[in-house]
Amino acid sequence: MPPRRLEFGSLSMSRVSVGSGLTLNPGFEGVFVLTAAGPCGTVPGIVPVYENHLDAANSTTFFRTSRKPFRGAAVVTGPADPSRVRLFDAHPGTADLRQEVLAGLAARPRSIPPKFFYDERGSALFDRICELPEYYQTRTEMGILQHALPELGQLLGAECMLVELGSGASKKVRLLLERLRPSAYVGVDISKEFLLTSTQALARDYPWLEVHAACVDFSAGLAIPHRDHAVHKVAFYPGSSIGNFGPDEAVHLLTDVAELVGDDGHLLIGVDLKKPVGILDAAYNDAAGVTAEFNLNLLHRIAGELDTDLDPDTFEHYAFYNPLAGRIEMHLISRLRQSLRVEDQTFLFGAGEGIHTENSYKYTVAEFAELALRAGFYQQQVWLDDEALFSVQLLQHRPRG
Ligand SMILES: C[S@@+](CC[C@H](N)C(=O)[O-])C[C@H]1O[C@@H](n2cnc3c(N)ncnc32)[C@H](O)[C@@H]1O
Repeated sequence: MPPRRLEFGSLSMSRVSVGSGLTLNPGFEGVFVLTAAGPCGTVPGIVPVYENHLDAANSTTFFRTSRKPFRGAAVVTGPADPSRVRLFDAHPGTADLRQEVLAGLAARPRSIPPKFFYDERGSALFDRICELPEYYQTRTEMGILQHALPELGQLLGAECMLVELGSGASKKVRLLLERLRPSAYVGVDISKEFLLTSTQALARDYPWLEVHAACVDFSAGLAIPHRDHAVHKVAFYPGSSIGNFGPDEAVHLLTDVAELVGDDGHLLIGVDLKKPVGILDAAYNDAAGVTAEFNLNLLHRIAGELDTDLDPDTFEHYAFYNPLAGRIEMHLISRLRQSLRVEDQTFLFGAGEGIHTENSYKYTVAEFAELALRAGFYQQQVWLDDEALFSVQLLQHRPRG
């Protein structure tokens, strides 16, 4: 594709969106690069642009920590090339959904694991959550990563194999790719369409990078075919998704990660911290109702993929911080007394009775150090934001004894 001209200007917004100050020529497709050389030391980064706008799946905003003007430059690349991404597909899917939904609705208390939020629509909704003003996690983690990049470059060196767990839109990892220049990248996610779109975009934007996509449910094991023992492996697990697992399950998953990265391998992980309840409650009960839509999408997915008379509108979103357990809990509450058929089973719900859909555990830095140690990981370096809302932790796997 021949390069097309991109005009750029200055903005003084904390969140930049193309269309609000930038003029793109019609038909422009490529990436917009925010440079550190801007007049006020703004944060560098990359915003993909398609057809003269940023599409919803790839976010319309870029997070910055500065409110000052920035400069940019256009780098024009061709369309995504699917053949550049090597897919390993373990087919986590409808069979698991059927089995786990039936078991979860029969259990007391009723619960369905959060991994089932993420069909294509669920992944896109989560991407919208990341842009909400109440959802401090994404912009805070991006800011911390930006700040930590030089040190990360020194600690991790070049030419590693970078394996991203729960890669989603693969946005945060772009910061690392620029700095670390790994020899290969493996995106691991349960949401196949989203995984393919994101990894194909990476393959297009980083022509020098070997890109793999592994569609697996990593709660069932990290059996991905990328175990070249000669290469220094770095797992990247952002978004504080580790908080979706209870402490014992988290240790189990981290032990699998330790085995994947091998002796002296690394895990760079985003961990959300304990903080005043008001901030947490707001983050999971946003004014625009996107988190509610995300939670209810689980029921839309069940209604779409299984044989059921379930009406998602008869349930509502409920999220709160449970200080005794140190976690946010999300539930779906039945608005009325009803009998629900799923496949060949019937479940009775009283009005106000719920299904527990997600936990999001919050830790202190010391609590997480203890948990990581149980999996053989030592905290090598920890970075926090100024308000200590969130942490990015570099852990190293050191075999004991
Ligand atoms: C909270 S989102 C985080 C997305 C992104 N990494 C970020 O930091 O914004 C969790 C991601 O993990 C994926 N995921 C959740 N459970 C999973 C599982 N059991 N196996 C593989 N991927 C999973 C979801 O599809 C989603 O992309």
